[in-house]
Amino acid sequence: MTKTEDVLRVLAEVRDPELGKDVVSLHMIDNVKVEGGRVEFTLNLTTPACPLRARLEEAAKGAVAALPGVTHVEMKTSANVYATRDFDGADVLKGVKNVIAVASGKGGVGKSTVAVNLAVALAASGAKVGILDADVYGPNIPLMMGVSAPPMVRDDKVVPPVAHGVKVASLGFFYNEATPVIWRGPLVAGAVRQLLTQVEWGELDYLVCDLPPGTGDASLTLAQTVPLGGILVVTTPQEAALNIAAKALAMFKRLDVPIIGVVENMSYFVCPHCGERTAVFSSGGGRKISAERGVEFLGEIPLAVAVREHSDSGSPIVSALPDSPESLVYKELAFRVAGMLSIVAWTKMKK
Ligand SMILES: Nc1ncnc2c1ncn2[C@@H]1O[C@H](COP(=O)(O)OP(=O)(O)OP(=O)(O)O)[C@@H](O)[C@H]1O
Ligand SMILES: [Mg+2]
Repeated sequence: MTKTEDVLRVLAEVRDPELGKDVVSLHMIDNVKVEGGRVEFTLNLTTPACPLRARLEEAAKGAVAALPGVTHVEMKTSANVYATRDFDGADVLKGVKNVIAVASGKGGVGKSTVAVNLAVALAASGAKVGILDADVYGPNIPLMMGVSAPPMVRDDKVVPPVAHGVKVASLGFFYNEATPVIWRGPLVAGAVRQLLTQVEWGELDYLVCDLPPGTGDASLTLAQTVPLGGILVVTTPQEAALNIAAKALAMFKRLDVPIIGVVENMSYFVCPHCGERTAVFSSGGGRKISAERGVEFLGEIPLAVAVREHSDSGSPIVSALPDSPESLVYKELAFRVAGMLSIVAWTKMKK
């Protein structure tokens, strides 16, 4: 007769290829129940946006089904997101497991668009997600997320509005565009501390943070003020943009924050009439620069009118048209990012 030990023994042969360890040692198996030939268990992924989800599910279920005497396997999949945060002595964002910054060497490369669609895609996978708009020069995340009303304040805390499944807070909540502000380091740090401490973020698996563009004082201060688990650098494919992205990578590498990888935006345009693919701003640069700098290349996002239109109307494409080719690219990116964060978290845990 099959026993719980038998189930755990065969599951101990199933490895998470990314973390390089078996699912039992990774504490991914729960609630094993055996009744005659019927086996029940839960597979707890390290993120609901697990890039290898289907493969792992199939391997785990298959291993148990192959046990002699097993006639039926009931596997539930759930997720317990790994944290890249070091909570020891943390005084801010106590319920937030991972903070990921989206940065760029220069403005206008599509950083905020990546940030909102990444956040929405992570939320759509089942994760608890927030977005923190820390772009001091143009806090436009509320616009892109369709948040227009000022946030509610409860017990001196700002309650972040939820849009497209994501909690939203922005520097724009505290400083409106009509107020001229000269953003020097201490002021940036102060404003961002407001976002970290005065906003009721609650429990989050991922907090996506839209940094200001560039490698100036504001970005640097932010990257040091927010407890970041990783940084994503967005670039467009032109030579000039890539050189600036290289500078940004060099700067962030000096901080003690893992670089999750590089995303190339506006990589190609697919003609809606004939389907022809054109590399409007050249191609291959993001991949090349990632290889040169020894960081992951996370993917290419097409230039598409629908992406801009949906951002402009406050409904990110991943939410408005979840099955469009562009949304699938953003979702794939979200899965890569979540997978990379799990690896960063696991590497930390092992130490
Ligand atoms: N893949 C894309 N296809 C089409 N339009 C895009 C794409 N990505 C971004 N855009 C558009 O390009 C413009 C700049 O994008 P976005 O605001 O995201 O860039 P940014 O890097 O955050 O800029 P800023 O430096 O001003 O904060 C926006 O109008 C946006 O809708
Ligand atoms: Mg922006």
